[in-house]
Amino acid sequence: MPAPNTSRAPEELTIDDLRTRFGGQGQGHVLAHWDRLDAAGRERLLAQLRRLEPQLDDLVTAYREAREAAAPRKATDLAPRIEPARAIALPQNGGDAKRAAAARQRGEEMLAAGRVGVFLVAGGQGTRLGFPHPKGCFPIGPVSDRSLFELQAQKIRGISRRTGRAFPWYIMTSDATDAETREAFEANDCFGVPEADVTIFQQEMVPAFDFEGRMILETVDRVFENPNGHGGSLTALVSSGALADMDRRGVDTVFYYQVDNPLVRIADPTYLGYHAESSAEMSCKVVRKVDPMEKVGVVARVDGRDAIVEYTELRDEERYARDADDKLVFWAGSIAIHLLDTAFIRRVASDAFRALPFHPSAKQIPYVDEGGEERKPQEPNGYKLERFVFDALTEARSVCVVETTAEEEFSPVKNATGTDSADTSRAALQAQYRRWLSAGGARVPDDDVSVEIDHSVIDGPDDVRSAGFKTLADAGEAVRIAGGRDR
Ligand code: UD1
Repeated sequence: MPAPNTSRAPEELTIDDLRTRFGGQGQGHVLAHWDRLDAAGRERLLAQLRRLEPQLDDLVTAYREAREAAAPRKATDLAPRIEPARAIALPQNGGDAKRAAAARQRGEEMLAAGRVGVFLVAGGQGTRLGFPHPKGCFPIGPVSDRSLFELQAQKIRGISRRTGRAFPWYIMTSDATDAETREAFEANDCFGVPEADVTIFQQEMVPAFDFEGRMILETVDRVFENPNGHGGSLTALVSSGALADMDRRGVDTVFYYQVDNPLVRIADPTYLGYHAESSAEMSCKVVRKVDPMEKVGVVARVDGRDAIVEYTELRDEERYARDADDKLVFWAGSIAIHLLDTAFIRRVASDAFRALPFHPSAKQIPYVDEGGEERKPQEPNGYKLERFVFDALTEARSVCVVETTAEEEFSPVKNATGTDSADTSRAALQAQYRRWLSAGGARVPDDDVSVEIDHSVIDGPDDVRSAGFKTLADAGEAVRIAGGRDR
């Protein structure tokens, strides 16, 4: 067998080079069906293996490390020292109102200076919701059925209106969500955000491994790959050119959020101000957990550094621990809204295999058997690997954790029914709109009426107040209602 010609560019690697390279890493089986492939099949597999080759050693190591890290802790291992988060409290929870006002002012200045970019991660498949399209297309408007994408676009247009400047929106998709996301944006004129300010790019994929550490062949000519987790966003921001676009625009702070939370306060100025004031490289927003079983990651100090401990990884003695006031000790639920400096993103992305380790999760992964027959297993047969964006926290020289309330900022659409479903999320939106109208001095519609606010015009009680309308009819299209007898 000839030695692999490592001096060749990946696109020039021959089948023999690849056989040696993959074989040398215990992955020779990916070519098991080569002899029976037609020309198109060979072309497809060759292209995929050439793409994977430069990362092959790192991927195999990453798999091994992911498995070791996920293995149950031995009694002799030292448990990490975990302490509660240190967060900037809300004024109503003992926080300093003057400091909050100063932070808001500072954040407004950052927005006005064009230093902030908005970054949405929308590559997930939303399996739990049972909606067979990108989650961003999910109809969430209580009156108009506007989608999550449209609602977010309204908020972005609202910031442009307030600051009088363009506001860039970066959207990460995956192989699973890219085509439909692009179609939705094209069909709806980017939901009113200028096209020049919308950048859609795809995250990378990563091969899945069976329990023996062999990449899984999904068909005779394809290795199974899945999106590499939201942590893949940091490398994708660099490789897609999105970060370079931010540099050109003078953006140095990235507002990161997930697609499923319609209450997200996009580019919240107070949060931005706190981040800048603390010279943080990465920040987290948290809400107080009331139920120990809430499925949110917990921000805590782990071995002296800020980190997020996933709900699946919290031990029972930590999960249920209560203080003298009977409040949860590990109270700081992450709502996955982060601020990251662009220089920090670049630093983490350049060392991704170390800084953003892969986490394995056992799944049922389609595969071909030795005879080339495609199979769908009934039990988990391998691991999908994913990176988590919050692993970057331990790389940050300084982290800022800011408290907010779920009532105002967190009501995700994750499940088809019950907790965190479309019903609970729409109800939370309705309640928020009623609070805004009331606080802004406008009439609040009766309970049997559905209300929907256009965020590009009204994005909080201040906007209601300054618009000065007393009846909902005065608000025109900005406040829509349906049902009931109210108007
Ligand atoms: C996530 C967080 C959890 C947090 C909660 C808040 C993880 C592991 N957990 O849980 O700490 O408290 O949100 O709602 O993240 N995505 C991609 N590409 C991928 C995978 C996911 O873009 O490869 C995106 C999804 O589109 C979504 C977001 O990441 O916008 C979150 O993914 P999801 O799987 O829904 O995370 P959760 O388990 O709900």
